[in-house]
Parts: sequence; structure tokens; C-alpha cells
Amino acid sequence: VHEETDTTTGTKERFSRSGFILAAIGSSVGLGNMWKFPYITGLYGGAAFFLLFTICLLFIGLPVLMAEMTIGRGGRGSPAIALVRLSGQRLWGGFGVLSIAGAFFIMSFYAVVAGWTMHYAVLSFGGVIHEGVDVAATFNNFIGGFLPVLWQFIVMVVTGWIVIRGASGIEKFNKVLIPALVLILLFLMVRVLMLPGAGTGVEFFLKPDFSKLSNESVLVALGHAFFSLSLGMGTMMTYGAYVDREQSLGGATLAVGGGDLLYALLAGLIIFPTTFAYGIEPGQGPGLAFVALPAAFSAMPVGWLFGGLFFLLLAIAALTSCVSLLEVPIAYAIDRWGWGRNKATIVTCSLCFLVGIPSAISVGGAAQGLHWGSRSFFDWTDFIASNIILPLGGLVVTIFVGYVWKNAAKEAGLTAGWFMLWLFILRYVAPILIVLVFLHTSGIIKI
Ligand code: PFF
Repeated sequence: VHEETDTTTGTKERFSRSGFILAAIGSSVGLGNMWKFPYITGLYGGAAFFLLFTICLLFIGLPVLMAEMTIGRGGRGSPAIALVRLSGQRLWGGFGVLSIAGAFFIMSFYAVVAGWTMHYAVLSFGGVIHEGVDVAATFNNFIGGFLPVLWQFIVMVVTGWIVIRGASGIEKFNKVLIPALVLILLFLMVRVLMLPGAGTGVEFFLKPDFSKLSNESVLVALGHAFFSLSLGMGTMMTYGAYVDREQSLGGATLAVGGGDLLYALLAGLIIFPTTFAYGIEPGQGPGLAFVALPAAFSAMPVGWLFGGLFFLLLAIAALTSCVSLLEVPIAYAIDRWGWGRNKATIVTCSLCFLVGIPSAISVGGAAQGLHWGSRSFFDWTDFIASNIILPLGGLVVTIFVGYVWKNAAKEAGLTAGWFMLWLFILRYVAPILIVLVFLHTSGIIKI
């Protein structure tokens, strides 16, 4: 095992301190918080599920997040390279490549949904979604056609245009967009909480009824805590490699975890009051954001503005996550093959766009042949990346810091007490729970 990690080797990209925290918050806050979190909360137990999610995020998510950042900074490079550098064993590089592939595949379909949010922002601001429009048909026609491919292309171009500037470009972009995100979020929340009947939604979201929980709720909550914090995909390791030695990783972990949780809370305080105020069922699954909410917004006075702002919010949140996802394979191409950033960005974006096309056209049924078993190409990519690669990537991180890398304590900079707690969770608690989530979500066991 290598004794010292020095700052002279490895990537030259650097974030400023606040830039790193904002970029990492930008990565974690995304479609997961505003699209997935509300509908799984609706399906798996409302307030009690939110509480479970909070517990999973704080006690398992944060230690793993800290581990990823620590590996990134210690190894000073793309996950595949950092893991080899720190362990001196080539085998770990293979695990790194697995997470990098995960980030690439998540990006391929995440960009599709990010494109939907942009399309919906345009539709709402343009006044196309108004009272009396059949929102379900509008959505089905849209995703069943080829327009999503154009939007996915636009997302790729915008993301590539930011990432091509490296860490400083990523940082500048997040510094502008995260404050914008917070402002829009607060504005919408205040408006929505004033709706008559909003209180029932707040109660559904914040007053726990534990009888609504199932064993499955626990695993879904943990899986989502990982997805929401962008773990298991090498993003936080890649960003961690751009952090300087003086930055407190413990502080960064708390800021990112706290930001993500707060964002989920505020998103819930927008979505549930809206659905309840308009008598919409919150447990209706993935269509919640694109069908139920547009219906509710269009029934509101000046609904086009609120609907438009809501989708703009989703689009911004999605873009800052896309940036982090794309940076993972790009950093790998630069570190591993010595490519220039321009070449790495253009090649990665083009490939990711191509791989995303079948996702874009399969989810709404435009391309009927792209279905295998019960899943479309889109669902398969999501399933393999989010339910298989993500937990495996998380497991690798816990084992690496818990058992393999002997200098983690020094790099992490934690006090002895915190370090023991961190190590305990990484060694004994997190791996067991991750394996359970994996066995469950991959369908191997039914809990
Ligand atoms: N954390 C993002 C969200 O909640 O939408 C999604 C994500 C980004 C997952 C980056 C994984 C990742 F590496």
C-alpha cells in the first residue's frame, strides 16, 4: 500500500472550496429529488417513508459520500486510476471502470428525462398547457414521438459545452444556477402553500403513519438515498479529485448531504400540497411530475407561470447533475488515454447521445421493437445502471475504505472518534445493507 499521496501527481483540475461544494450539491440535487423522490414517497408510505429516507441518507449515505470524496482526493484522478494508485493493485481499476460505465449509462437516459423537462418548460411558458388540455394524452404523444431525441441532443450539447471548460467551467455554471434554483424553489413553495387544501398535502408528507411502511420501503429508501447523493457512479470521486488539501471533507459531506435533504424537503412541500389541493392521487408513479402536476398548475390562476417555473427548476436541477455524470467518463479518457479535454468531451457526448437514442424512443413506445421482457430499452438501462451497477459501485467504495486502503484516516482528516464511527459503518453496516438492496432490487430475493 502506498504510504503518501502527494499533490504533484494526478489531475491538475481544481475547484475552489465553495465551487466544489456547489458542484457536488448540483450533482446530488436533480431529477431524483423532484421527479423520483415525490412519486416513491407517494407509493411507499408518505411521511414515514420520508423519515426512513432521512435516516438512510444520514447514517449510510453520508459515510459513503465521505468515502468517495476521500478516495478521489487521495487518488487525484478518475476513479479507475485513483483506486489503483491508492491500493497498488490493478484489480481495483476494473471496479472503477464499472462505476464509470454506470455514470455513462445513467447519463444516456437521464439526459432524455432532462430533455422532457425542457420541453415542458417551453410548453408551460408558451401557454400550451392550459385548463381543459388532456395532459395525459399530451405527455403520451410527446414521449411516443421523436421529439424527445431532439431535446436529448440539446441536453448533450449544453452539458458538453459546460464540461469542455473543465472544473472551472463546471464551478461557474453551478455558482450561477444553484442560487437560481433556490430562489425559484422558495417562490413556488410559498405560492403552493397558500392554496386552499394545501395542509392535507403537508400532513401526508410530514406526519408519519408507520403502518404504511413495508420491508420494501426500507430498501427503496436506501437505494434512493444512494441515487440522490450521486453515489456508486464515481461522480463524487471524480469531483473529489479536484479538491485541494485544505478543504474539510467532513464539512463538505455535511453541506452536500444537508443540501440534498433540504431540497427533497422543499420539493415535497411543493408537490404534495399541489396534488392534494387539486384532489390528485400522489401514489400514481412516474407520471406524477409530468401528468398530475401540469394538470394542477393549469387549473391555477397564472398557472402557465408556475408550471413553467416548476419545469425550469427541474431542468436546472437535471443539468447540474448531467454535468457531473458526463465528467466521469471524460475524466477517465483524459487520465487513462491522455486525451485532450476537447476530444474527450466531443467523443463522450457523441457516444452518449447515440446510446441514449434507443432510450428516448423506446420509453413512449415510438420504437416497438426495443422492448425485452417487461422492460423497454430505457427501463433496462435504468435498471442495470441504478439497480445493479450503483449498489455494486457503493459496495466497492465501502470495502475499499473499510478494509483495503490503510491511509484513509489521514486523507479524511476526521478526529479519532468520528473516524471510528465512520469505519464501523463502512465495515459492518453499509455493506450488509447494500447487499440486501442489491438482492432485492435485482429481483434475486423478495422481501
Ligand atoms: N443525484 C442525481 C439525482 O438525484 O437526480 C442523480 C445522479 C447524478 C445519480 C449523478 C448518480 C450520479 F452519479
